[in-house]
Amino acid sequence: MKRRHFLSRTSALGVVGSASSSLVQAAESDDALKVEALIRSPLVVMAPRRDGVELIWAVSRLSRGRIEWTGPNGESGQAHTDGFGFYPQSDTVLRIRLDGLKPDTEYTVRSVTEAIDGDAEIAISEWRQFRTLAGLERDHASFVVWNDTHIHDETIRRLYELTPKADFQLWNGDTCNNWKDESLFVPVLLNSGGCDLTAKQPLFLTMGNHDVRGKYAFEMPRYYATPSGRAYWAMRHGPLAAIFMNTGEDKPDDHPSFEGRVSFSRFREEQAAWLKEVIETPEIKDAPFRVLFCHIPMRLNEEVIVEDYDLKGKNFDFYARSSRELWHESLVKWGAQVVISGHMHQEEWVEPNDQFPYAQIVGGGPKPEQARYIHGEIRHGKLTVRLHNLENQVTIEKSFLALG
Ligand SMILES: [Fe+2]
Ligand SMILES: [Fe+2]
Repeated sequence: MKRRHFLSRTSALGVVGSASSSLVQAAESDDALKVEALIRSPLVVMAPRRDGVELIWAVSRLSRGRIEWTGPNGESGQAHTDGFGFYPQSDTVLRIRLDGLKPDTEYTVRSVTEAIDGDAEIAISEWRQFRTLAGLERDHASFVVWNDTHIHDETIRRLYELTPKADFQLWNGDTCNNWKDESLFVPVLLNSGGCDLTAKQPLFLTMGNHDVRGKYAFEMPRYYATPSGRAYWAMRHGPLAAIFMNTGEDKPDDHPSFEGRVSFSRFREEQAAWLKEVIETPEIKDAPFRVLFCHIPMRLNEEVIVEDYDLKGKNFDFYARSSRELWHESLVKWGAQVVISGHMHQEEWVEPNDQFPYAQIVGGGPKPEQARYIHGEIRHGKLTVRLHNLENQVTIEKSFLALG
């Protein structure tokens, strides 16, 4: 059923070339279920910046790809050179970084994919619209956040229908349960729940503890993009300075369940050293609004310190204790107003206090009753963050005033 849905949508992408008419016709019959379309996902717009985005799409066989773009006032161009002088080529996923665009500006893009092995075939996607991030002069901003979808496709579809258009979306970890099979990456990350995830806005993704599990988890970075090319970054968008960090796993690196795959102790220290410096950079330091996004909460109202990480993995960190020990001082110095996280599969609000001057918002989970989309809006000198359930009711609403 899912396969039929996917192929019929692929035929609507505007496939051209020698194989196109047979493919489109086949897509309308049961025989289509045997056909592997050249493009296997929507064109996903990720890692927005003021001067560009990164575009990712999945292919079914060895292909090369390029991006065609149009901008305001009749500007247009193509992007097709990777960092080593090659045309982007792959038999699984193509990705192209688009540079040199103007801030706070609408662009349209489409992908052109050409098979380079076997039968000749060219597939052209539909045009896709996005807006680049804005410079300091913009006084408003908006974002939406999903947490902990864990491949619950019905929840993802409901969230997708309800989530309003914003300047960017963040998928804040636990997209999956366990990358035990490479075939999961395309449907989970690039066509989740059969949804065209970036039809409304470009997407950021931060990894959760489940995203680093499974023997193929190390391959996940091939299927998503960040502005920095690393799992942590900072950005300024209008009045908002946002820092995105990777809290890693919920147990020590040497826990037997990880089988030696993770190295988060060093990675948290690396991020701590980076955080110390990035909070001193002008655009981040002086922003009117300062938000940290990370999967595991920095704070909870009831913080249990785990003494024994048992072998079965039943005892684990509900809050990011080891990250907080390294990052807290910098977060306070920066003046972080709120940390937005998931991981708990239940919503929670933690007030700021003298020791922890940053608030904490937690929300989202795979089951319909746990699911939330978080909508942040900066308008008229105020950041308002609202959590919405799948009935589209506001379950938590908090506001933060601009810092001086
Ligand atoms: Fe989760
Ligand atoms: Fe989690």
